[in-house]
Amino acid sequence: MERITLHDKSFRIFIPHDKILKSIEELAAKMNRDFSQADVPLFLSVLNGSFMFTSDLMKHLEFQCELSFIKVSSYSGVESTGELKHILGLNTDVKGRTVVLVEDIVDTGATIVELYSMLKEAGAAKVVVCTLLLKPDAYKRDVPIDYVAMKIPNDFIVGYGLDYDEIGRQYKDIYVLDTASNQ
Ligand code: IMP
Ligand code: MG
Repeated sequence: MERITLHDKSFRIFIPHDKILKSIEELAAKMNRDFSQADVPLFLSVLNGSFMFTSDLMKHLEFQCELSFIKVSSYSGVESTGELKHILGLNTDVKGRTVVLVEDIVDTGATIVELYSMLKEAGAAKVVVCTLLLKPDAYKRDVPIDYVAMKIPNDFIVGYGLDYDEIGRQYKDIYVLDTASNQ
């Protein structure tokens, strides 16, 4: 589909599925080179947005790893509220471990910075950040974003796990808010 409408807004195709998968394969190849068999890191997928990315990423990992989920929310409509709600907390012991945070998108960074500190406080030896998408013009925080599949401009996007007020997550492609048709 070239265009979709969610609630009151119109979106146009931005990143097709094959391009998403190719960027994930490249990212996984980099991780396969960086992680050794001895690490057994804990991948911590940040729900809901990261479910598709986590699934496609993990299929390409060749080292041993564990997977767990955490659920937080900071977005309301098309803007970050800056306030993070923990909906499903950490239920795995991270003491002394390498934890890889798996995010769909890093925007202002409020989410990733808070999760980073929470994991450090819980005793994680190392926290690695991995994201499908990064908005470099919005991210001004100090936590290093170690693995980025794709960088995008400061636009609002949906699809491939990402939502607009909880809908639009199921699309295999990524769509961008079409400012021209939402005047
Ligand atoms: P941050 O805390 O501002 O970095 O925002 C991170 C979270 O906000 C992400 O995990 C997403 O769930 C959501 N988010 C940020 N940008 C977008 C977007 O363009 N579309 C949909 N959700 C977004
Ligand atoms: Mg998210």
